Amino acid sequence: MLIRVISDIHANLEALEAVLAHGTGEKADITVCLGDIVGYGASPVECLDLVRGAAGIVLMGNHDAGACGITSLEWFNDMGAKAIEWQRPLLREAGELEYLSGLELSSSRFEGLFLCHSYPPDPGSWHYVMHAHDAIRTHRAMPGLVCLVGHTHLPCAWSPEGSASFSDTGSLDSDATCIINCGSVGQPRDGDPRAAYLLLDMDRKSFRHVRVAYDVESAASRILGAGLPRVLATRLFDGR
Ligand SMILES: [Fe+2]
Repeated sequence: MLIRVISDIHANLEALEAVLAHGTGEKADITVCLGDIVGYGASPVECLDLVRGAAGIVLMGNHDAGACGITSLEWFNDMGAKAIEWQRPLLREAGELEYLSGLELSSSRFEGLFLCHSYPPDPGSWHYVMHAHDAIRTHRAMPGLVCLVGHTHLPCAWSPEGSASFSDTGSLDSDATCIINCGSVGQPRDGDPRAAYLLLDMDRKSFRHVRVAYDVESAASRILGAGLPRVLATRLFDGR
């Protein structure tokens, strides 16, 4: 089985379309979305529509929770809150707030994997897996499981001992990997502006981080046209 994992789309339609049309991922047996479909970008309704059509499993991210009022906007920085406030009426009008509020925080043991947006031991905390102790605690809480996450927008894999690998490929063996972060489709932050997604080959027990170029100019100009904070557009060119 080939699994395509996407996350942190952040209403970036151009990036999502490029990822879904990408030759390698198109052959996947199932697509899994780890959340943050909305927030930051100019196309929340269009992205939700595409994700609902493409993904067999869709989980809730913190921006999805913010849009439907489960997580307070006080949790977000100014530009994040502004984008959600701009998107919320569009989502309400499209009837999508109810869908977002019904999303699960995690999915247990799909194909022997644990899936969530942020922090596997406490998915609703919106804690970031950024340090060695986060990976070590995850491994202790869920020994023998490989967890898939998004949230930091940084594609990488963590070992049970807490070391991070930024290699494009790796093993699904739980002795070598306890957390894989699939990166961000719509707002990469590792200095590479291309959209990121993850492919898992369950037969070969391996994974691969994939990058796809997309029309950044178009996504950025629509963010500016919507009157959203300028930095939400300019950061797309730098992947920061
Ligand atoms: Fe995000």
